Amino acid sequence: MKVTLRQADHFIRKELQGIYPPEEIRSLSLLVLTHCTGIQPVEMHSNPDQPVSETALAQINKIIDGLKIYKPVQYMTGTTQFYGLPLKVNEDVLIPRPETEELVHWILGDYSGTSFLRILDIGTGSGNIALALAKNLVSADVWATDNSAPALHLAKENARENGLMVHFVFSDILHAGSYSLPGQFDIIVSNPPYIPESEKNSLPRNVADFEPSQALFVPDDDPLLFYRKIISFAQIKLKQGGAVYVEIHENFGHEVTALFRKEGFLNVEIRKDINEKNRMVKASL
Ligand SMILES: C[S@@+](CC[C@H](N)C(=O)[O-])C[C@H]1O[C@@H](n2cnc3c(N)ncnc32)[C@H](O)[C@@H]1O
Repeated sequence: MKVTLRQADHFIRKELQGIYPPEEIRSLSLLVLTHCTGIQPVEMHSNPDQPVSETALAQINKIIDGLKIYKPVQYMTGTTQFYGLPLKVNEDVLIPRPETEELVHWILGDYSGTSFLRILDIGTGSGNIALALAKNLVSADVWATDNSAPALHLAKENARENGLMVHFVFSDILHAGSYSLPGQFDIIVSNPPYIPESEKNSLPRNVADFEPSQALFVPDDDPLLFYRKIISFAQIKLKQGGAVYVEIHENFGHEVTALFRKEGFLNVEIRKDINEKNRMVKASL
């Protein structure tokens, strides 16, 4: 007997009951069904009694097994959305967050309509920030670095799939070799690792168990490590009048802004994210 869409939906919801909140289960079920069957939600609603193929059922079961151990659904579907761009993701990269869309939004608010900008994204991961900026600032010359070769591989694939041009460069911001990137930049943006290692145990399991540690953590005794390096880099590679935009840990707003001011940056500004948490800093030279 064939399993229908409606039955598959009930099955998914039952399997995930008690593991995720009810609203999340509803959206997970829809996402899993759409991904595995290729049938769009509107069509599912209008024709819930159509059969689900054996292949789709096998895929659904595999994803449910992953969800039961809190594996992020994006790693299993292999896709996500960032600032309207479809992106591939895998366990080599952080899953782009809505807070980071707010950082991109800040930059676009400041620079939309400005031509021929040179932009650098440090620690690009899936390429999300660099690609969203390249998409929305069409004349910009966008560069992006990471010290993870697999992340850069995926970022390049995301650029190709979206028909966007970004120069991806393997480079470690903790070492001065990164200064060999050509020329100076109008904008330097970064969402660097910023979670102290001691917070690992209090993070949700989907993050702590599956997202790449090197994208997340900094030593407890030096939580501002990446901001110091980004600042030293910007002092050489940011054009006069240019700006640095960084995402920050909600608890380190004061420390990060103080660091930029101490190093001679002007107009240092902090912004909260949609959840009212200190989340981003802008500073100019
Ligand atoms: C918090 S993730 C941000 C990823 C992506 N930009 C985003 O917003 O979702 C930090 C990124 O920095 C990269 N990274 C970590 N250490 C680095 C280093 N020393 N030099 C360059 N990139 C580094 C990680 O590989 C990771 O992709």
